[in-house]
Amino acid sequence: MIKAVRGTRDLLPPDTALWNFVEAAVRDVFRAYNFQEIRTPIFEETQLFARGVGEETDIVAKEMYTWEDRSRAESEKGTSLTLRPENTAGVVRAYIEHKLWDRGLNKLFYIGPQFRRERPQKGRYRQFNQIGAEAIGPASAGSESPARDAEILELLATLLDRLGIENWTLELNSIGCPNDRAAYNEALRKALEPLAPKMCSDCQRRAVSNPLRVFDCKVPGDQPIIETLPRISQYLDEPCRQHFAQVQTILKATGVPFTLNDRLVRGLDYYTRTAFEFTHGALGAQNAILGGGRYDGLSESLGGPSAPGIGFAIGEDRLVLALKQSAEALQKKPDVYIAPLGTGMNPEAARLARELRRHDIVVELGDETFRLKKSFEVATKLGARYILIVGENELKAEEFALKHLESGEQRSVPRSDLVRAIQA
Ligand code: HAM
Repeated sequence: MIKAVRGTRDLLPPDTALWNFVEAAVRDVFRAYNFQEIRTPIFEETQLFARGVGEETDIVAKEMYTWEDRSRAESEKGTSLTLRPENTAGVVRAYIEHKLWDRGLNKLFYIGPQFRRERPQKGRYRQFNQIGAEAIGPASAGSESPARDAEILELLATLLDRLGIENWTLELNSIGCPNDRAAYNEALRKALEPLAPKMCSDCQRRAVSNPLRVFDCKVPGDQPIIETLPRISQYLDEPCRQHFAQVQTILKATGVPFTLNDRLVRGLDYYTRTAFEFTHGALGAQNAILGGGRYDGLSESLGGPSAPGIGFAIGEDRLVLALKQSAEALQKKPDVYIAPLGTGMNPEAARLARELRRHDIVVELGDETFRLKKSFEVATKLGARYILIVGENELKAEEFALKHLESGEQRSVPRSDLVRAIQA
């Protein structure tokens, strides 16, 4: 039998409805912030990612789906092509190719598949979907302003809130500009010289070629060493420091909560100044629901004019996962199913239900026409914790049979003790 390729997956109903709901909500939010859609090809020349994302990043060094596209005619030469692992480089390529600077500040968004050869696990796939946005243009159009950074971050907070995703954390850092980076890289290289031999082989290489990438290391044994390294926050020059302070001031004014994390450097080389991630507790190991930042030099490194920009990409797979979990958490299962047993028992059952619900106990109420067997079936199907049997004998004795459905343990509980017994 032929199955879907490892790390790819089919989206089936009813999940597809959730994906459509998310995308419709996202499009509404983008419209309110005046972002417009861009669609770029899903494969590009390999060079774009090598130069844009960076040779030493995990993405380019280990994770790209690349092939040699042979020419059909003698006159044409073959090219190395790559399925896009991310879409920022593609958007900036399009910005340069179509001279989009003529339009001033471009506020663009995209929704589409990306490809990385990572080890698949929950929340991490080889084909995954990103919802991303980029604000890019000449500095004279305001593209470099800290107001843009704050607007993007506020948009994201609004979006997550609108979708009903709770418990997100915004982690914020500034990783400076080329000015600061040179001094910082130097300090890192120096600090790493005696330490690198004790680290993993990737870090030994990074320590020499691109020391900032050491912070991407996931090897547990290397973490205590990485903890001791100098932080970028100590190396920011005055303009970068001020830019970052402004971003924070505006964010505070909008009421968006954030925490500073000066270990956050992001796994792509194009970032400058503001870098951020939103994490979500319910996602487990793959808890980054989205990431982004500024890339003020990316256009120039791809042969374009100066075009500061800032953007983000949400992992849509993870967003949907978080949504599903919060939807399930909201849908509380009944604490108790009340089963009236025999004719004339409905009024008493209703009275008991009212008493219990007053104590915030979630009650599902059965019907006296149900036989005991059917009541058990319904209670089990609903996922109720207890079933409470209300029959003539119970009523007379003022004691009710309370059965824990999972363990099967049953006891007789006096009316006055019911709330306590169910809440315990
Ligand atoms: P990134 O941090 O590499 O940034 O990816 C953004 C998000 O995509 C991650 O936070 C995660 O939610 C999701 N993601 C990444 N890899 C996978 C995977 N294998 N499976 C499922 N989800 C995944 C970028 O891609 C930048 N282009 C973001 C950006 C835009 N920066 C500026 N503009």
